[in-house]
Amino acid sequence: MSTSTTNIESVLNEQRVFPPPAEFSARAHIKSMEEYERLREEAEREPEKFWARMAEEIHWFRRWDKVLDWQPPHARWFVGATTNISYNCLDRHLSTERRTKTALLWEGEPGETRAFTYEELHREVCRFANVLKKLGVARGDRVALYMPLIPELAIAMLACSRIGATHSVVFGGFSAAALVDRINDAGCRAVVTADGGYRRGTEVKLKAAVDEALRETPTVESCVVVRRTGSQVEMKEGRDQWWHELVETVGADCPAEELDSEHPLFILYTSGTTGKPKGILHTTGGYLLWAHLTTKWVFDLKDEDVYWCTADIGWVTGHSYVVYGPLSNGATSIMYEGAPNHPAPDRFWSIVERHKVSIFYTAPTAIRAFIKWGDEHPRRHDLSSLRLLGTVGEPINPEAWMWYREVIGKGRCPVVDTWWQTETGGIMISPLPGATPTKPGSATKPLPGVAADILTRDGEPVAANLGGFLVIRRPFPSMLRTIWGDDERYRQTYFGEIEGVYFAGDGARRDRDGYFWIMGRVDDVINVSGHRLGTMEIESALVSHPAVAEAAVVGRPDELKGQGIFAFVTLEGTREPSDELKEQLRGHVAREIGALARPDEIRFSDALPKTRSGKIMRRLLRELAASGAVKGDVTTLEDFSVIEKLRAQEEE
Ligand code: WTA
Repeated sequence: MSTSTTNIESVLNEQRVFPPPAEFSARAHIKSMEEYERLREEAEREPEKFWARMAEEIHWFRRWDKVLDWQPPHARWFVGATTNISYNCLDRHLSTERRTKTALLWEGEPGETRAFTYEELHREVCRFANVLKKLGVARGDRVALYMPLIPELAIAMLACSRIGATHSVVFGGFSAAALVDRINDAGCRAVVTADGGYRRGTEVKLKAAVDEALRETPTVESCVVVRRTGSQVEMKEGRDQWWHELVETVGADCPAEELDSEHPLFILYTSGTTGKPKGILHTTGGYLLWAHLTTKWVFDLKDEDVYWCTADIGWVTGHSYVVYGPLSNGATSIMYEGAPNHPAPDRFWSIVERHKVSIFYTAPTAIRAFIKWGDEHPRRHDLSSLRLLGTVGEPINPEAWMWYREVIGKGRCPVVDTWWQTETGGIMISPLPGATPTKPGSATKPLPGVAADILTRDGEPVAANLGGFLVIRRPFPSMLRTIWGDDERYRQTYFGEIEGVYFAGDGARRDRDGYFWIMGRVDDVINVSGHRLGTMEIESALVSHPAVAEAAVVGRPDELKGQGIFAFVTLEGTREPSDELKEQLRGHVAREIGALARPDEIRFSDALPKTRSGKIMRRLLRELAASGAVKGDVTTLEDFSVIEKLRAQEEE
């Protein structure tokens, strides 16, 4: 059974409803469903007027001439306006009491902490922005950030956006090969990295991977290296320089550039259904507005909060909800470098207790791991500072949701299940914690301004409780603008599936109360621990191994990771299947893409099940991977004996 089916079934049985606690609502930014409805209707009735009113929350150097220019499928928001996200996240707070408030509170995996007030963070960002300029990085240039989760990563992002350089953060868990593709696709001029980072007590050697990558990246002129672990690294003369030495050579005065609202802010690569990752492009004004507003609404952020989003900044959640959203709201944002179970499975709860975290945002895969590790770990800690809990990344099963609410939130804290994507830049469907009654497993309702809907493939509306495709009917400020270097793919992927609307790639249903229940991906993207991986990418990696003739990769339900990776592989004529070869192939994929793409299981097969027209029948493979049997329609299968053989292996 696929994850999505499991979800549909539990949905039908799910009757529990939890209204927001009265004392929470009383103090919330949005206090009731009436207030939510008023905002929603305002946005529905006069969208541009609504967005113009919302945009008052942001500092603009110059105001817009026009709120929206929509030439489907291309949107330009706040046309003619200028702003700067680094200014909004830093400078704007310096004339207020927040000047001396903690902006970033960082904890390294080995246990050290560093804190930056807004004033201090501003200074560090200005200095690094001057370093970038000194290295020749100018407005419009791309900079790759391949770093551990350390303050310098946030500083580098804010420094780029301060001078109008477009950052491309590449998750530190990706391999050198994956880094090469991303650097070359964006044509990055500089790379910022560190000697290494810590993960579960061992050092991840980032600089070594960069050295390997930079042999194949002609556009990179310079590489800045943060000294994090102190381990021995090679520094290439004329290319590599230490961060701490460079910042000594520049001043701390660097005014934020006035950038066009549509200036490219960042590129973030995400998986699609074809081999090549997509460089999702976000621009300045619209992204900033939505990151700001959603952080305020969904996390109900107040000045006294200590806010912690556990995501790595290598993913969009870290961009919007570790860095930009919280800082533009003047929050105290916590960053933790390492693994949740290092040195022990109570690390997160120890952080919550020691730093008095009040808002906690994590992923279902982490919650399922906590459940497995046992209640004694959170119970050992004082979690009374918590007032709000959130989840993101994949559908959360109602059991995990209930555990989160009861064991972590002690039944006091609203739980916000937030649906969104790299492409949407910010949260789209989510409860408002002071207003929306929640149902375990449902992301509830679209936020005001988000015209989410569920349609058939033909664009017809779908009745209550029937599954369909999740779409967004109207442009929204934080939507991706294009796929870097491939506008045609942008058109096809997001606007070519269903006429006239943004197609999210997820299946969903809406219940009679108008609540959305996300059912998971409808394309060949699998969601491993909340991280999107294209099956094609893993297949290409497998096929690049000399022993492999053909490969088909499918997801199968996994108790912890949401989905696990199952690969069917046919070998080149002369190669014999063996356990050793399986291990080699798993290692090969990890080297090509990164450890998170390492297949959980590999099965060798003489042939793959194909239709008469030669298409691999993934549905059958998915069924086989999940349950060891094939029940569905096999009439289009070219050679039934293939399935028989695969199944026979299952029974061995
Ligand atoms: C899935 C992460 C159900 C979904 C912010 C989406 C979710 C993909 C939820 C985007 C949720 C994310 N409930 N599914 N609350 N949040 N997803 O781009 O399939 O890494 O399309 O962005 O994750 O993943 P991405």
